[in-house]
Amino acid sequence: MDPIQFSPSTLRGLALPHVAKLAAYTPGLQPTEPGWVKLNTNECPYPPSPRVAEAIRREVGTDGASLRLYPDPKSHGLRAALAKLHGLAEENVCVGNGSDDILNLLVRCFCAADAAAGFTLPSYSLYPVLVGIQDGRSSVLMFDRMMRLPIERLAASTASVFFLTSPNAPTGVGFGNVELEKVLGSFRGLLVVDEAYAPFAQENAVPLLGRHPNLVVVRTLSKAYGLAGIRVGYALAHPEVIGLLDRVRDSYNVNRLSQAAALAAIDDAAYFEQSVARVKATRDRVVRGFNQRGWFTYPSQANFIFTEPKNARGESGPAVAKAAYDFLYAHKVLVRYFPSHALTAPFLRISVGTDQEMQVLNDTLDAWLKAPPNA
Ligand SMILES: Cc1ncc(COP(=O)(O)O)c(C=O)c1O
Repeated sequence: MDPIQFSPSTLRGLALPHVAKLAAYTPGLQPTEPGWVKLNTNECPYPPSPRVAEAIRREVGTDGASLRLYPDPKSHGLRAALAKLHGLAEENVCVGNGSDDILNLLVRCFCAADAAAGFTLPSYSLYPVLVGIQDGRSSVLMFDRMMRLPIERLAASTASVFFLTSPNAPTGVGFGNVELEKVLGSFRGLLVVDEAYAPFAQENAVPLLGRHPNLVVVRTLSKAYGLAGIRVGYALAHPEVIGLLDRVRDSYNVNRLSQAAALAAIDDAAYFEQSVARVKATRDRVVRGFNQRGWFTYPSQANFIFTEPKNARGESGPAVAKAAYDFLYAHKVLVRYFPSHALTAPFLRISVGTDQEMQVLNDTLDAWLKAPPNA
């Protein structure tokens, strides 16, 4: 008998209809060849604490024997250490394979066709993708150019779960706890404050957890701890919410080496604080430089800067941002721009690198302003 022929479209036809028409999340470029100044994915410009590599070596041992065994399925040691770090109990913590894993678990638990997941535009573009995977309903709140929190609209939202990025991405604008409490006072769903960038901010929502059982704070070790490659993030929430996340989580969602690495990183608080302080000092200096150029730049509480470039004729807008992006790209300086939204298209998002990398960025922008047709 002839084997059955499966064409690509037949295979697609076997998928659930909503999956067949999904568009995947587009991560920032990860160039493999050397020579790039990489300021596009908000990674830390500094390596993690030296204790991390030691902990991984210790975990692997001389012959890798421990790798035969599954990791601790609940990442108990890490949950306990994170709980201590934030003055909470282990029952308030769930650890994920990056905070993307945690966001996915939250969508799995709280979003469906008749239970909307809310988010703002602009914000982290993974949220709508996760909602699409779940075949759920989205409820979108638009910012205006001021990028202030739409407190009344958010408080009145009927979403089951609302993802608020604070500090926001890609703007870097942070929302204060006074504003968050106004929302929490009336919002009837679960408010998830995605605090991927909180270590660089003036305030964070952790102190509100005790008073608001419908608050979830999501954190990551990818940014401030310099561990994007290790994939560890976590949720802080009421034990009931943590229990729900645990029901839908992969049993072994955080591998052995990542658990060991994360524990070592959070154990080295002095190193962490020094890294964060260096990034913030560089950020504030570069923002001042953009202001001196006369480029509108949102006040950043994150490890990236959202700025509206002006060309040599003083013009700004999507075409100018694209020209600046292309010039930087041609000179191997990689930043991010988001042409799909009117509020983001005139801007570039630039991750804070080392002082040396930011010097290359500034020199390349000077060269762009001198190069025809800008001159
Ligand atoms: C707002 C926001 N949340 C979550 C993440 C995901 O972080 P992780 O590396 O922990 O999955 C990112 C990554 O860029 C982000 O910008």
